[in-house]
Amino acid sequence: MKIDTARFSFGVLTMSDKGSRGEREDTSGPYLVKTLQDLGYKQKAYAIIPDKAEGIKNTLINWVDEEKIDLIVTTGGTGVAPTDVTPEAMVDVIEKDIPGMAEAMRAESLKKTPNAVLSRGRTGIRGNSLLINLPGSEKAARENIAVLLPSLAHALDKIQGGTSDCGV
Ligand code: MTE
Repeated sequence: MKIDTARFSFGVLTMSDKGSRGEREDTSGPYLVKTLQDLGYKQKAYAIIPDKAEGIKNTLINWVDEEKIDLIVTTGGTGVAPTDVTPEAMVDVIEKDIPGMAEAMRAESLKKTPNAVLSRGRTGIRGNSLLINLPGSEKAARENIAVLLPSLAHALDKIQGGTSDCGV
């Protein structure tokens, strides 16, 4: 049975020091918003915040615990630069890892660029919400989210206790 994506709300969080100061246009965030909207998911939040672990952690926890957003997709801050702290912030947020999602994105990305190994993005669950870290450029965000789109609705359904058949 096809899962109705309109059941699920989503938020997109862009991590960018320059973007948060209005010094760089965020194209990755709007791309992700449009992609998920086009698939029927319901947008509930979008924000650009600096690469600061405490702020990232607080925003993610607020979006899950208070706003009850079902799917949170972040972009940026997954790399190896001194300012990249998105994965560190995730440690205090997610309760269950879904390593396969992050592994699959890196494996597919490696077919496109050797630099794919530099993304330390994580994927996991807090409460009944799914959180996904993507790299920051629009190209990288597009290539990475494409890997997960086919399994997204099923993942969200299962996370929320759905009993849909995994074999279909
Ligand atoms: N994955 C894909 N599919 N395509 C890309 O262009 N860029 C890589 C990597 N993953 C890339 C990718 C690069 S250059 C970096 S530095 C890391 O993602 C981390 O990006 P971030 O620090 O912007 O999160």
